[in-house]
Amino acid sequence: MNIVQIKNCSKKYSKNEFFSLKNINLKLEKGEIVGLIGPNGSGKTTLIKVLSGLLKPTEYEEVKILGDDIYKGKMKTPKVGLVLNSNQMYDDLTVMENIQFFLRMHKIKKKKEEIIALLKKFNLQDREKSLVKSLSTGMKQKLNIIRIILLDVQFLILDEPTSGLDPVSKSDVHNLLYTLSKEFNITILISSHVMNEVQRLCTRVVFLNNGQIIKDNIMEDIFKDFYKDVIEIRIPKDESEQMDQKFRDYGITKYIIWNQNDGSTALIMEYIANKDTFISKLQINSFNERPIQLEDVFFYELYKDRLEEN
Ligand SMILES: Nc1ncnc2c1ncn2[C@@H]1O[C@H](COP(=O)(O)OP(=O)(O)O)[C@@H](O)[C@H]1O
Ligand SMILES: [Mg+2]
Repeated sequence: MNIVQIKNCSKKYSKNEFFSLKNINLKLEKGEIVGLIGPNGSGKTTLIKVLSGLLKPTEYEEVKILGDDIYKGKMKTPKVGLVLNSNQMYDDLTVMENIQFFLRMHKIKKKKEEIIALLKKFNLQDREKSLVKSLSTGMKQKLNIIRIILLDVQFLILDEPTSGLDPVSKSDVHNLLYTLSKEFNITILISSHVMNEVQRLCTRVVFLNNGQIIKDNIMEDIFKDFYKDVIEIRIPKDESEQMDQKFRDYGITKYIIWNQNDGSTALIMEYIANKDTFISKLQINSFNERPIQLEDVFFYELYKDRLEEN
């Protein structure tokens, strides 16, 4: 059984003319860590709300979580753990009190030893008697996640879970999520606009743009259409069209150019045989060759169509 199965799901907020989600089809399997990425306004939070049972799609064939269609018939409470960026804990209660209060609200009973073991596993041992306000932001976020795991959810959704965390806390939260997927076999959907975070952590990437899934690949396949290195070229102001033509004349097909305030940047994502010849022939002054990153693929997916429109 798929953990999540969505078919032809669209959402239009009533006050908008446009759809915030358009014909989304998505299946998530057990233990996957899926990165949901896309520019601001691409629909990440809307999709997360739909999956959490908070927002009924305008049109849909299926929104199934663990086999139940959550918006059909008698609305079912989806067995989903939702982690938001703002933490929802009581500063003046201890770690243990926060957890116990949360479990009681959800009518879940857990032995104290089990809670302590979980805290220990994620390096929060000896913290159960600390007030939450004494914890670092990273520890609070870990606690936020651990609390939800104690509800025995099989599917965890996180909306930008590491925004505002320092690099050490970030990697701490990553380790926690990695362990939850590997050892607890929990399926994780994590929205983020931090590409290197997604590249490091996720086993699959779903790109959203304008409410549509424009790419959905397991991590090993994300880079398969590209050369292992990219060439990044700075183009002076007002010379991007010229450079575009030069690339085409040279026979390059896999590249993007995007404008910035003070000029443009081009990214060539295919193998160039005689680089020196290429550089001198096109009179390129400023370039940088480096290994390809997820962010490059992201930009390629965003800008390649604009190029085709030219
Ligand atoms: N409550 C809402 N009412 C009207 N429009 C909304 C609402 N929430 C989001 N939108 C619009 O839907 C689109 C997708 O937004 P959102 O899902 O928040 O994107 P993301 O999380 O990727 O930034 C945007 O155009 C946004 O303005
Ligand atoms: Mg959002």
